[in-house]
This record gives sequence, structure tokens and C-alpha cells, in this order.
Amino acid sequence: MIVRAVLAVTVISCLPVLRGSTVIPADAGRDVLLPCSVQHQGGFNLSDVTINWERPDTIVCSFYHGSRQLEHQDKRFRGRTQLFPNEFSKGNASLLLQRVNLADTGNYSCNAVLWANTQLTVHTMFLQVTGNGLAVTPLGAVHCLPAILLLLLWYM
Ligand SMILES: *[C@@H]1O[C@H](CO)[C@@H](O)[C@H](O)[C@H]1NC(C)=O
Ligand SMILES: *[C@@H]1O[C@H](CO)[C@@H](O)[C@H](O)[C@H]1NC(C)=O
Ligand SMILES: *[C@@H]1O[C@H](CO)[C@@H](O)[C@H](O)[C@H]1NC(C)=O
Repeated sequence: MIVRAVLAVTVISCLPVLRGSTVIPADAGRDVLLPCSVQHQGGFNLSDVTINWERPDTIVCSFYHGSRQLEHQDKRFRGRTQLFPNEFSKGNASLLLQRVNLADTGNYSCNAVLWANTQLTVHTMFLQVTGNGLAVTPLGAVHCLPAILLLLLWYM
């Protein structure tokens, strides 16, 4: 009975992966690129760019008024974020998050306007950081591991 309940809970926790939401796997200590593409438009001007990378209730990295804005950045991300201004004119607002740790696991959203008078582009993704040595392929296997193990136990 208890096993069945635990199994149900772990299978449910595994569902976001099975549903196919964007999951970005990363090993702790490594750098990871969080992708964010904006549809390409015409003439580009750096002063039109507004990019906010956020976690729920947290600013990860911001760029506006032509430069990086660090005053609202959460301390945990200080010195670990990099945007690529040379790529903005190609519609690339990707973020390099450096030396990721287990606490970096969670949802991230990219909110970007790269051309004046264009709509806000929003991309969300789930960063899954795992301890060194844990296999992260195939995608989602780590997330679903408890459910897989319990399924094995169930049938033994
Ligand atoms: C970019 O925008 C700024 C502010 O609106 C303006 O002063 C500047 O002339 C623009 N640059 C170009 C190349 O259009
Ligand atoms: C965006 O820029 C980064 C850094 O140069 C690069 O690694 C990445 O491949 C670029 N993404 C796209 C979609 O071009
Ligand atoms: C991440 O976002 C998804 C989709 O909105 C949500 O179902 C999930 O609970 C979130 N995960 C965390 C850890 O907040």
C-alpha cells in the first residue's frame, strides 16, 4: 500500500519530463548555456534591447539601457552569468550560467525584446543540475530514477 502510494507520487513528480517540457541537464560545477531565441527583425540598435532572465521571484541577469544591469541581480548569481551582446542582432539572448550548483535546479524564464516596438518573447525551461558522476542521459532519466527504481522493486 505504502509502496503503491510512493510509486504514484514519484511517477507524478516525473511527469513534467514525460510531458516533454524543456529540460536542460547539467553537471554540478560545469557551465551551461540556457538558450533563448528571438525572431529576427530589421535594423538593430543595442539601446532597444531589454533582456530579463528570471527564476520565480528572482532576477538572474538583466540587460537594458545598452548595458548589463546588476543592481537587482540575486547574490547567488553574482559573477556567474554572461550574455552575448555580439549575438543580440542575430536574435540570440542566450545566457551562460557558470559553475552551476544543485541549488540552481529549477525553472528559468527568458523575457526578451531585442527590437523596438516588437512583442515580448518569453521562453521557459527547467534546469536540472545533478551531482558529478550521475549520468544525465537519456534526458530525464535522472529525474525519473526514483520511479524507475520503485517500479523495479515492485516487480521483484
Ligand atoms: C540607437 O538608439 C539611440 C536611442 O534611441 C539613438 O540615440 C541612436 O541614434 C540609435 N542609433 C542608431 C544607429 O540608429
Ligand atoms: C548564442 O550565442 C552563444 C554564445 O556565442 C552560442 O554558444 C549559441 O550557439 C548561440 N545560439 C544560437 C541559437 O545561435
Ligand atoms: C516549473 O514549471 C512547471 C511548468 O510551469 C511547473 O509545472 C513546475 O512545478 C515548476 N517546477 C518547479 C520546481 O517550480
